[in-house]
Amino acid sequence: MTADEKRSLARLLDTAGDYLRDGYRRPRAEYTFTDDAFKENGAFKENGAAATPPGMAAPTPLAANSPDGAAPDSLFAVAAEVLHCSACPLHSGRQNAVPGEGVVHPLVLVIGEGPGADEDRLGRPFVGKAGQLLDRMLASVGLSREKNCFIANMVKCRPPGNRDPLPEEIAPCSRFLARQIRLLKPAIILCVGKVSAHALLKTDASMGSLRGRFTPYEVADTQETGGFTVPLLATYHPSAILHDESYKRPAWEDLKLLKQRLRELSPDYEAGA
Ligand code: URA
Repeated sequence: MTADEKRSLARLLDTAGDYLRDGYRRPRAEYTFTDDAFKENGAFKENGAAATPPGMAAPTPLAANSPDGAAPDSLFAVAAEVLHCSACPLHSGRQNAVPGEGVVHPLVLVIGEGPGADEDRLGRPFVGKAGQLLDRMLASVGLSREKNCFIANMVKCRPPGNRDPLPEEIAPCSRFLARQIRLLKPAIILCVGKVSAHALLKTDASMGSLRGRFTPYEVADTQETGGFTVPLLATYHPSAILHDESYKRPAWEDLKLLKQRLRELSPDYEAGA
């Protein structure tokens, strides 16, 4: 088995355990393995399809997420598919895919652009400088990925050189985010940066014109989850704020708006944070 395959398997097992036990993926140190000979033994597939650990049900294929007797979809199934996805060229440059982490049924689903170098190295979203700022921004309004948020990205593999993901990379990856939104049923979606705001709101308007207000985001009707609407707030990406201090004030205004809406939805939400 190659080191990459072992890393994927360890991550899959840990992710499964985390989601089943706690509902979110726990922070972990990087896995280090060395390559050894890999022999097909029937327990794993070598063809790039999802490697299924012995004794564990294969991840639910997207096409099987139907009410006609197939297993219901799950965050674990999404994460497992993301880890083995090769639907766009980004997969070939990744160290780790980054499915996302946080709590199930979060108050806030934060959606960024795509993993950067630190996220790619660790397989976790928003763990670099921008991530540290994001955590501080969330904490300032009583939110955290451990208690009441889920952090995801528009694309799950790192675009080279930290460029914005291309439409042809966003398109195949959107199905994962769509499933995550349906499964998570967040009270509010917070798009940080224009990539996720543009993709979800189907617009190319400036962040200046999108921020500062909630827009209803319609989640498509499926027989499994039904349709529902989530208020979506867009604000500046933490990386943009790090590069240009003038975004700080409007971003803070957006956070205050978020806090106000959260208090309306759940008056004592900060007590649990
Ligand atoms: N920027 C993003 O948009 N997402 C991450 O996970 C990290 C940096």
